[in-house]
Amino acid sequence: MYNSKISGLGFYLPENIVTNDDLSKMMDTSDEWIRERTGIKERRWIDRTSKDTTSVMGVKAAKMAISDANLTKDDIDFIIFATLSPDYFFPGAGVMVQDMMDMNTVGALDVRNQCSGFIYALSTADQFVKTGMYKNILVIGSETHSPGLDKTTRGRGVSVIFGDGAGAVVVSREEDNSKGILSTHLHSQGEHAKELSVISPGLGTRWVSDIIKDNDPNEESYLPYMNGQFVFKNAVVRFSEVINEALEKNNLKKDDIKLLIPHQANLRIAQFIQKKFKLEDNQVFNNISKYGNTTAASIPIALAEAHKANLVQKNDIIVLAAFGSGFTWGSALIRW
Ligand code: UT7
Repeated sequence: MYNSKISGLGFYLPENIVTNDDLSKMMDTSDEWIRERTGIKERRWIDRTSKDTTSVMGVKAAKMAISDANLTKDDIDFIIFATLSPDYFFPGAGVMVQDMMDMNTVGALDVRNQCSGFIYALSTADQFVKTGMYKNILVIGSETHSPGLDKTTRGRGVSVIFGDGAGAVVVSREEDNSKGILSTHLHSQGEHAKELSVISPGLGTRWVSDIIKDNDPNEESYLPYMNGQFVFKNAVVRFSEVINEALEKNNLKKDDIKLLIPHQANLRIAQFIQKKFKLEDNQVFNNISKYGNTTAASIPIALAEAHKANLVQKNDIIVLAAFGSGFTWGSALIRW
C-alpha cells in the first residue's frame, strides 16, 4: 500500500460580484439579515453572457492545480468531478474536463454528494492512489448555482446563501506513510433527503422546461428547497462527530489541529464548531463572507486560499469537514 497526498491546488471564481445590497433589489432581504444569519457579504454569480459553466470553471481550477503540482495533463490518470450542478443532466462534468483539456482517455467519474461532494471525491481518489491503481488523480469541485436559484422573495431562504465557483486538487502517490491523507470518513442518512433538495418527482427523467410548461407558473418543485433550521441543527452535530472521528482514528487531540477547513455553509456553523472544539481563530479558516456557499467547490477553494496565505505548512495537521444535502457528511485528516 502507498499513501496519498495533495500535490497541487487551484481555484477559479467568476468575476461577477453580487453583494447583499444587490440581492435586496431583487427580493425582500437586507445586508443586515444576511450578514447576521450567515456571515456572507457577497458571492460570485456567473455572468450569463460569459462562457463559464460548471465544467469550464472546473477546467480553469484544474489547470492551476496541475501546474501547482508541477505536472502536465498527461500525468493525470483519472478525473473525479464533484458537483450538483453539471452542465448537462448527463453525461457528467468529468468527461467535459477530459475533452476540454484534451487529456488522454483516462476514466472520469462524477460524484453527486452536494456539500460533502469534495470530501467523497477526495476519499475516492485516496483509495485509488493508496492501492497503487493510479498515481495522479485530478479532483474537482465546481458549482454553477445561480441560474437555478429562485431570485424572488419566495426563494430568499436559499438563494442568498449560494455562490458559483470551482476548486481543484491533484491527489498523488506519497511513499512516506506518515504524511499525506491519513484518513477519510464518510456518512449518509437518506431519511432526511427531502430537507435540502430539488426533489421534483419528474426532474430526474424530464426536462425542466416541460415541467414548467405542464404546471402552473407558481410551480416550485424544480427549485431548491431547504429546511434551514433543521439542516443547521443536524450540521453542527454531524460536523462535531466526524471531526472527532478523524481525530480518534489518528490518535490525535483537538490541540493537534493546525487548521480546520469546514465546508463554507454558514459562518454561524463554523463559529459553533470552533467554540465546541475550543479552537483559536487562527485554527479555523473561513472565506464564506466573500463567496457564499459554493457546495462541492467550497473546501478546495478554501484550502487553496489558505495555502496561498501560508496557513498550511509542511507537517501541519489539516482537517477538512463537510455536511449537506443527503444528508451526507464526511471528513479528511491530512498531515501536510
Ligand atoms: O451547505 C449545505 C448545508 N446548509 C446549511 O448548513 C444551512 C443551514 N441553515 C442555515 O444556514 C440557516 O438556517 C439559514 C441561514 C438558511 C436561515 O437562517 P435562520 O436563522 O434559520 O432563519 P429562518 O429560516 O428561521 O428564518 C427566520 C426568518 C423568517 O421569517 P419569519 O417567519 O420569522 O417572519 C424567514 O422568512 O427570516 C426570514 N428570512 C429572511 N429574511 C430576510 C429567510 N430568509 C431571509 C432572507 N432575508 N434572505
